[in-house]
Amino acid sequence: MSLSTLSHPAAAAAGSGKSLSPAVPAGYLLRLPKTRPHVPAAVSAATAAVHADSAEDRVSALSQVSGVLGSQWGDEGKGKLVDVLAPRFDIVARCQGGANAGHTIYNAEGKKFALHLVPSGILHEGTLCVVGNGAVIHVPGFFGEIDGLESNGVRCDGRILVSDRAHLLFDLHQVVDGLREAELENSFIGTTKRGIGPCYSSKVTRNGLRVCDLRHMDTFGDKLDVLFKDAASRFQGFEYSKSMLKEEVERYKRFAERLEPFIADTVHVLNESIQQKKKILVEGGQATMLDIDFGTYPFVTSSSPSAGGICTGLGIAPRVVGDLIGVVKAYTSRVGSGPFPTELFGEEGDRLRKAGMEFGTTTGRPRRCGWLDVVALKYCCQINGFSSLNLTKLDVLSGMSEIKVGVSYNQADGQKLQSFPGDLDTLEQVQVNYEVLPGWQSDISSVRSYNELPQAARHYVERIEELVGVPVHYIGVGPGRDALIYK
Ligand code: GDP
Ligand code: IMO
Ligand code: MG
Repeated sequence: MSLSTLSHPAAAAAGSGKSLSPAVPAGYLLRLPKTRPHVPAAVSAATAAVHADSAEDRVSALSQVSGVLGSQWGDEGKGKLVDVLAPRFDIVARCQGGANAGHTIYNAEGKKFALHLVPSGILHEGTLCVVGNGAVIHVPGFFGEIDGLESNGVRCDGRILVSDRAHLLFDLHQVVDGLREAELENSFIGTTKRGIGPCYSSKVTRNGLRVCDLRHMDTFGDKLDVLFKDAASRFQGFEYSKSMLKEEVERYKRFAERLEPFIADTVHVLNESIQQKKKILVEGGQATMLDIDFGTYPFVTSSSPSAGGICTGLGIAPRVVGDLIGVVKAYTSRVGSGPFPTELFGEEGDRLRKAGMEFGTTTGRPRRCGWLDVVALKYCCQINGFSSLNLTKLDVLSGMSEIKVGVSYNQADGQKLQSFPGDLDTLEQVQVNYEVLPGWQSDISSVRSYNELPQAARHYVERIEELVGVPVHYIGVGPGRDALIYK
């Protein structure tokens, strides 16, 4: 598929001089097609895995504002589903997190892309990508990502909007992230060291800088000075001098110029788009079990990757949010520290890690692996109200004689827990009760229709549906775009 032949309306309109609002790229809202008429040929090829008519209808029927959210501890394969669904949407938007996310996607030719802040709709020329107010932006990292995409033939100009309200994540936040982790010694969180926690801390402390501050370089230095001083007074190991500030301000003057065409009032853009019946797909970063409120606190990230984060992170009303698809691996993985009740150690864990190639997209760290945890999954389904699930990496379980599923937790005193516990002491002591299901021996990575899956694989999928009470509509059988079964 050609990635550079079509031009996006936002870019096409850039020189037209028409403007709805000073913060919206000229002509953008006027020039987007009113509705997505039908899927063009190039897109049909990209979504060749849509075989059954009913599956096609179901994808087309996804709500005007839909979302793809992680329902474990991250790395479930959210990016892949977003990339597959993106051609059916006008806009793909990130609402939270930052470059701690690592979403791996493949284009039609099988070329691999690792995205961090840029939404996973970027490989589709007709899709506008929005980074919303709830996200945190490390500007040099963002440009690095764009340069990488452009050098691989993916045009980004005029195709990405960054909220003027989003907070800026500075190198100093990354340094503080490392210092905080070092201070925690053995109880470190295992962050990605991308500065996420410290940046959201600045936001909540109310001394953070936002993207719109790049438009006021006269006061930028004074605001940044407060952040630097804050860090220097808190951490002995934090070096700070006036010359560092001066250098950083000069650097950001250059960034400000380059970022200007990307900056928009995305709250306005998204709400106008909704009025114009445009379709928006929200791409979650991280996952509910890493949510600052609902995750295994304090071993969590610092944003809201669950459904609530969509409204606060994009500025759209709850009533417009429709279908939310929960992405769940056929087993579980987790990077960093924190409780993981169904974790497998030794050879068993190694086997899953190797078969699933479970190494972090962002940090390259080996991911901890274990069986599917239905207690945690049900909790995620409750919080997010998923209308369907995407069960990913089912292919990784091929060849196992039996597969276990964690179905309930007992407390230390033997009593069954009624819900996923908030108290980490309780969670760390739970005993997991497993159901043992038969495995299948054949390779399923080239299967494209549900009925062609081995009976034991279908049984596994259907048992999950039964236990969780949410239908599985998508099944991943490989990393590639086409390796998807529509159920
Ligand atoms: P995300 O952060 O949720 O987008 O997930 P990541 O991209 O970090 O991790 C998922 C990994 O699994 C990536 O390397 C994907 O290419 C890969 N992947 C996604 N779906 C499947 C699948 O169904 N089968 C296999 N074998 N790999 C998959
Ligand atoms: P995607 O979007 C997996 C984990 C880190 C750490 C904790 C806090 O690819 O699923 P942070 O850097 O956010 O302060 O780290 O959260 N973590 C992720 N784990 N996938 C991610 O993103 C993650 N983003 C953060 O490993 O345990
Ligand atoms: Mg990831």
